[in-house]
Amino acid sequence: MKTIIEPFRIKSVEPIRLTTRQQRQQLLADAHYNPFSLQADHVLIDLLTDSGTSAMSSRQWAGMMIGDESYAGGSSFLRFEQTVRELTGMTHILPTHQGRAAERILFRFLSAPGKVVISNTLFDTTRANAESSGAEGLDLLIPEGKQPAVHHPFKGNLDVTALSEVIRERGAEAIALVMLTITNNSGGGQPVSMENARQVSAMCRQHQIPFFIDACRFAENAMFIQQREPGYADKSPTQIAREMFRLADGATMSAKKDAFANIGGFLALNDDGLAQRCREELIITEGFPTYGGLAGRDLEAIATGLEEVLDADYLHYRLRSVAYLGEKLSAAGIPLVMPTGGHAVYLDARAFLAHIPVEQYPGQALVCALYETGGIRACEIGSVMFGKYDAAGQLIPAPLDLVRLAIPRRVYTQSHIDYVAEVIEEVYTNREALFGFEITHETPMLRHFTAQFKPV
Ligand code: F0G
Repeated sequence: MKTIIEPFRIKSVEPIRLTTRQQRQQLLADAHYNPFSLQADHVLIDLLTDSGTSAMSSRQWAGMMIGDESYAGGSSFLRFEQTVRELTGMTHILPTHQGRAAERILFRFLSAPGKVVISNTLFDTTRANAESSGAEGLDLLIPEGKQPAVHHPFKGNLDVTALSEVIRERGAEAIALVMLTITNNSGGGQPVSMENARQVSAMCRQHQIPFFIDACRFAENAMFIQQREPGYADKSPTQIAREMFRLADGATMSAKKDAFANIGGFLALNDDGLAQRCREELIITEGFPTYGGLAGRDLEAIATGLEEVLDADYLHYRLRSVAYLGEKLSAAGIPLVMPTGGHAVYLDARAFLAHIPVEQYPGQALVCALYETGGIRACEIGSVMFGKYDAAGQLIPAPLDLVRLAIPRRVYTQSHIDYVAEVIEEVYTNREALFGFEITHETPMLRHFTAQFKPV
C-alpha cells in the first residue's frame, strides 16, 4: 500500500473554532503581530510547537489514574526511573518539570564564566541557560546543515574537524561540555548519525570533556538512523536509541516531545559526584528527587510515552507524515529546508519573501500571513529569535530566517495537513503583496516570546 495511515484511531476529540479572515486581521493587530500573544481558541491549526501538545494515548490516560502521589519513593517514580534507566543505560535519573530545568541544573555545575558550551546547535533555552551561567555557546554544525536547499542524510551532524580545532585552540579545560541535540531542532529538525555521535563521543573521552545528549527527539532521530545509516536497517528504534545514549555521559530530556507528555523532563547522569550535587539543587528548585517538580501521574504518563514512541509503525508514520507535507510544498516550488526534519517542516522565509529585507524580519511577515490567510499558527526561527545588535545598534541577523511548522504528535489528520499545504500555497502565490515588520517592544533575552511589532 502507498498510503501510510495514522496508526491509531481517535477516541476523544476537541473542537477547533473557525474564524474569518477579517477577524484574524484584527486579532493579529491586537496581538501586536506576535502569534505567541494570540489566544489558542482563535487558532485553527496550531503548529507553534510540538512541545507538550501531543495527544496522549488511552494507556497514558489510564496511567494518570493510577499515578502514585507519594512524596517519596512512589511506584510511579520507580517505574519512570526504570524505564529511563533501561533506555539510557545511565545510573542517576532526576525528574524535572521540563527540559530547561534539567539544563539549568546541569549548567550550574558544569559551566562557568569563561567556559564554552559546544553543540551542533543549541536550542534557544539551552543557549540561554549556558549563557546565563557566564559561558559562551558555540554551534559547530556541519556546513551542509546551514544550507536549506542542500540534501544530506544527517544535516544535524556536528562538525568534528571544527571541534578538534576548538579543543586545540582553547584547550580541553575551557570546554564545559559538548551537547549533541538530537534531532537538531533549531537547524531544521535534522538528524545526527550514529557515526557522528560515536566520533564526538570518542573525541570527548580522549580529552575528558563531558559529553551530553539533548534528547528531546531521540526516537525520531533513531528512526532516521534506521532508514538512512548503513548497518542500521535491521535494528529496532529501541536498539538504536539505546546504543546512542550509551555513547554519552549524560542527557537532558524534555518529555514534552518524544514522550508524548504534556509536561515533564529529566536529567540522566553517570557521574556520582555530579549527580549528588544536581540532586541537591533539584530539591531546592524542583522538588524531592522522586518527583522533581512533577506529579506521580505525570511520571506514569512519561514512562508509558517513552515505550510507545519507540514503536516502529508509529515512527514510520511520523516521519512519513512530516515528509508528506514537505513534498507537497516542494512540488509547489515553495522554498524549505530539505529533506524535512522529524517533527517539523521549516519554510525558508528569506527565499519565500525575497523582497523583504532581513532587517524587516521576513520570518515574522510569513508567520503573520499564515495566520491571517488560514488561521495557522507557526513559529519564526530566525532573526527575531536569534538576532542580536552590534555596538552601533544594527541588527546582526540570524544565519537563516526560517518559519517552523511543528507538527504535534498524533493530533492532526492528513486532511488538516492538506489544508495547511493549501494555505501556504495561497500565501506563496500572493507573496509580493506582503510587507516587513519593525520591532516596537522587546526584552534583552528570549525576545521572540513577548516582542511587539508593527508593519513597515
Ligand atoms: N532542547 C530542545 C532541542 C528543545 O527543542 C527544547 C524545547 C528544549 C531543549 C527545552 O525543553 O521546553 O521542556 O523546557 N523546545 C520547544 C520547541 C519549546 O518549541 O521546540 P522544555
